[in-house]
Amino acid sequence: MAEPGSAAEKVKQAADIVKVVGEYVPLRKAGVNMVGLCPFHSEKTPSFSVHPTRQIFHCFGCGEGGDVFQFVMMIENVTFPEALRQLAEKTGIRLQARAFEKEADDPKAKERAALYRLHEEAGKFFAEQMSASGEGRAARAYLADRGLTGPVISRFGLGYAPSSGQALTRYLVQSRIPPGTIELSGLLIAESGTGGKSRTYDRFRRRIIFPITNERGKVIAFAGRTLGGADASGPKYLNSPETPIYYKSRVLYNLSHAGQAIRKAEYAVLVEGYMDSIALASAGIENVVASCGTSLTENQVKLLARFARRVVVNFDPDAAGVRATERSLDLLLEEGFEVKVLELPDDLDPDGFVRQKGEAAYREELGRAPSYLDYLTDRAAREHDLESPEGKVAAVNAVLPRLARIPNRILRAETARRVAESLRIEERLVREEIDRAARERRPEVKVSAPKIQDEVSLAERQLLQILLENEELRKEFVPRIEESSLHRGLATEAIFEQLLQTDPGVEVDVSGVAERLGTEQQKLLYGILASTAGSPGRDEAESSWGWLWRRHLERRLQKLPEEMAQAQRNKEMERFKRLNDDKLKLHKELAKIKKLVRFSNKSIPSGGNL
Ligand code: UTP
Ligand code: MN
Repeated sequence: MAEPGSAAEKVKQAADIVKVVGEYVPLRKAGVNMVGLCPFHSEKTPSFSVHPTRQIFHCFGCGEGGDVFQFVMMIENVTFPEALRQLAEKTGIRLQARAFEKEADDPKAKERAALYRLHEEAGKFFAEQMSASGEGRAARAYLADRGLTGPVISRFGLGYAPSSGQALTRYLVQSRIPPGTIELSGLLIAESGTGGKSRTYDRFRRRIIFPITNERGKVIAFAGRTLGGADASGPKYLNSPETPIYYKSRVLYNLSHAGQAIRKAEYAVLVEGYMDSIALASAGIENVVASCGTSLTENQVKLLARFARRVVVNFDPDAAGVRATERSLDLLLEEGFEVKVLELPDDLDPDGFVRQKGEAAYREELGRAPSYLDYLTDRAAREHDLESPEGKVAAVNAVLPRLARIPNRILRAETARRVAESLRIEERLVREEIDRAARERRPEVKVSAPKIQDEVSLAERQLLQILLENEELRKEFVPRIEESSLHRGLATEAIFEQLLQTDPGVEVDVSGVAERLGTEQQKLLYGILASTAGSPGRDEAESSWGWLWRRHLERRLQKLPEEMAQAQRNKEMERFKRLNDDKLKLHKELAKIKKLVRFSNKSIPSGGNL
């Protein structure tokens, strides 16, 4: 691609591949080469290497490789002329227009270039509106109220979209941005009016504008926040739609500012919102990026991985934030991140906290942030009753799925020990389950409750729960089950069998029972414990019994006609007569139980499908 003596060759020589790649991938020296984690596939041990003398890169894992242009083209997803332009800008080499001829040939690249220019202009417009217009004054007052003044406003390029609805479009047209590009940007929206005529409006009206940049600092989209107040309409934040230069799921807000700081600190603080990252960054915590919205995406995680492999997740302390934290954990761990979770006290989000208590207090909290594991175990311990076996199991199941993602065996064992200790459960059980999951590369360790619910009736689960937890009722029901063989043929037969053998009057040792079960049954047992709650008593026991007994009778009845026909064919009159007697008995029993169950309807486990 880079012919000798060409502009490209000059750029290539000036742009040291180690430096260029180093901006995306943390590299370390290994012999004459530099190695790091491949940005083009997911890996945990480095197989990506850069050769300073040959000025090439190669990944032994996925086979990608090439020169510095190919690297930029791949990682930025751009064409050759765009990569050339980027590298030329970086190295300060001035290229003649001729060098970009190919860019002019590629309509997609041309489109992107036009969109970048449009966003630069639009950013200028919004900034001017903020500083110079009367309306902008209200916006400034709002921001000042939230602790954001001049220097911060200009650093983040904050602006204001006036209420007129036409001003931006006019400005862009005056700046000779082609109408097609304006349309493509989504900054203009069409509203169909009367008589089939459609009118167009600026997408952002009466909003504070936050320019969204890519990691190189180019504006690629905007977010607009209402000023609050009574006449605010629409959502709190409104975003640009996706365009050829803006894919929401691939952007981390503030990364262009934070990138260097993240590399230096070797970790990133991940927050939810624009205001959170601005507040932290302007308080001096520079290594902060925002996911913008609650759910982190795989692309965002991959992007962040180019800067560091450690992260402190500091989402809002509300229910949505907690859910988002858990979801991001999965993605981050999958990508090999070392994750800590910071929950700020007093229900404060990062913005509120740092404004109220300052940088030092925030740093202190950062230092105290527990590892994701301690966070999960603490939460599980808080949310479940560790005094009861099913509480323990539910707690363990809440933590296990993430444990299995720990790639290192020794670390996994150590982790299992800590979890077992804080949840007061037998270490061996935790460890075995994690190891198995890791070995089988199962995405989930959790014994799946929904799956079990399909196969195991609620009555079955409830009766088992009672046998496990209620010694008195166990004493009473074990002989009944034994005598009736009610449990034969159930998915949980083996578990019942184990329980029938436990000593009456002694608390059931759940791990002991589990130990004597096969893997599948073990999972079933924990799944049952994890999916049951409360402490059912005698009524529930009787109703579960009744339901199971009825099903047992019905199943036997179902088989009878076939058997009787067979007996008749074989002229086994004795057997036929016995079967017929059975049939009458079963019908009688069934009628009795149906009557009984109807009276105790309220204690039938919900969804019991009688
Ligand atoms: P928050 O509601 O927590 O907003 O949403 P915030 O960032 O703390 O903003 P302030 O403090 O109320 O001004 C977190 C993030 O979720 C996205 C935005 O990226 C926001 O920063 N969001 C929220 C939207 O995209 N649209 C919305 O309507 C709300
Ligand atoms: Mn907020």
